[in-house]
Amino acid sequence: MFLKRFRRKRQAGYQPVVLITGCGSGIGWALMKLLLQKTNYRIIATARSKSVPIILDKFPENDRFRVYSLDVTNEAQREWLIARVSELWGKVDILINNAGISYRSVVEHMTENDELLQLRTNYLGPIGLIRLVLPMMRLRGRGKIINVSSVSGMLAMPTMASYSASKYALEGASESLWYEVRPLGINVCLIQPGFVRSNSFRNVYFTKKSNPAVCFEEAYADYYSHMNPFIEKMMNLSTSTPEHVAKIILKVIQQEDPPLWIPATFDASLFYYIRRILPRRLLLPILFWALPGARTWGQTYTQKRI
Ligand SMILES: NC(=O)c1ccc[n+]([C@@H]2O[C@H](COP(=O)([O-])OP(=O)(O)OC[C@H]3O[C@@H](n4cnc5c(N)ncnc54)[C@H](OP(=O)(O)O)[C@@H]3O)[C@@H](O)[C@H]2O)c1
Repeated sequence: MFLKRFRRKRQAGYQPVVLITGCGSGIGWALMKLLLQKTNYRIIATARSKSVPIILDKFPENDRFRVYSLDVTNEAQREWLIARVSELWGKVDILINNAGISYRSVVEHMTENDELLQLRTNYLGPIGLIRLVLPMMRLRGRGKIINVSSVSGMLAMPTMASYSASKYALEGASESLWYEVRPLGINVCLIQPGFVRSNSFRNVYFTKKSNPAVCFEEAYADYYSHMNPFIEKMMNLSTSTPEHVAKIILKVIQQEDPPLWIPATFDASLFYYIRRILPRRLLLPILFWALPGARTWGQTYTQKRI
C-alpha cells in the first residue's frame, strides 16, 4: 500500500509500445502470441521478410498490432523501421532484442564472414536498435530494453565459440548500459535462457568446414560427433519451452524495476551458481570431464606432448 503510493502513475488507457525482433519462430513467436492476448500493449512484431507472411497468416494486423520486415543486420532497415514506428505510434516503450542465430563450429573452422554474421545478428544489430530507441526513451524519462542473451553469455562451450562471443558482447554492453541509462529512467535487462525445448537447433548455422553434410576434418570429427547430438539431446530433455521464456519476459515487462540479469531456465540458474561457487582452477576441468567423450577428443590426431 505504502509502496503503491510511490509507484509511477499510469494514465488510463496507457498502452506501451513493445517492439520485438525475430518473431518468426521460437521465443519471439511465443512472446508475440502472449502479448496479443493482453489487451494493454501495442505490439510491433518484426521478422525477416520470409517469415512475415507466416505471421500475418496466423495473426492479422489490427489497431494495436503491426508486423514489419526487419533483418537486424541491416542498418537501413533498422532506421526505416524506427521511423515508421515513430510516425505510427510516436515511440517505442519496450525494445525486445530477441532475434539471434547460433553457429556450430570450432574456432578453426570459422571464417571472418561467419564471425561477422554471428556478431552482426546477435550483437551489432541489437546495439544498433538500442541506439535508435534511446533518444525517445530518454526524452520520455522511461523505457525498457530487454536483451535475450543466453547461458552461453556466462559459460562458453566447445564448438560454440562465436555464439558465446556474441552473447558475452551483448552481456558486457548491457551491463555498461545499465549504469548509463539508470539515471535517465530506463531499465536494461538480460534474459538468460539455457537449453530450451524448441526447434532452434534446426536453425543452427554451420560453416563450410563444420557442416555435417561434408566430411569433418579429422582433428575435430570427434568434437562435432559428440557435441551436436549432445546439444540436441539437452534441448529435447529440457522442460523449458519458448512459452515458458515468453512468460518470464512478460513478467519483466510488467515489473517496475527489474534486475539486469534474469536466468530464464533451471539450468541457467544452476550454471550461474556453478560458475560462482567452483574455484576457477576447478571449473573448466570439471566441465571438460562432464562433456561427452571429451577425454578422447582428437586423440588419434593430436601432437600433444605427454
Ligand atoms: N533455444 C534455445 O535453447 C536458446 C537458448 C539460449 C538463448 N537463446 C536465444 O533466444 C533467442 C531466440 O531464439 P529461439 O530459441 O527462439 O530460436 P529460433 O526459433 O531460431 O528463433 C530465432 C529468430 O531469430 C530470427 N533471426 C535470425 N536472424 C535474424 C536477422 N538477421 N534479422 C531478424 N531476425 C533474425 C529468426 O528469424 P527467421 O524466422 O526469419 O529465420 C527467428 O525467428 C536468440 O537470441 C537465442 O540466441 C535460445
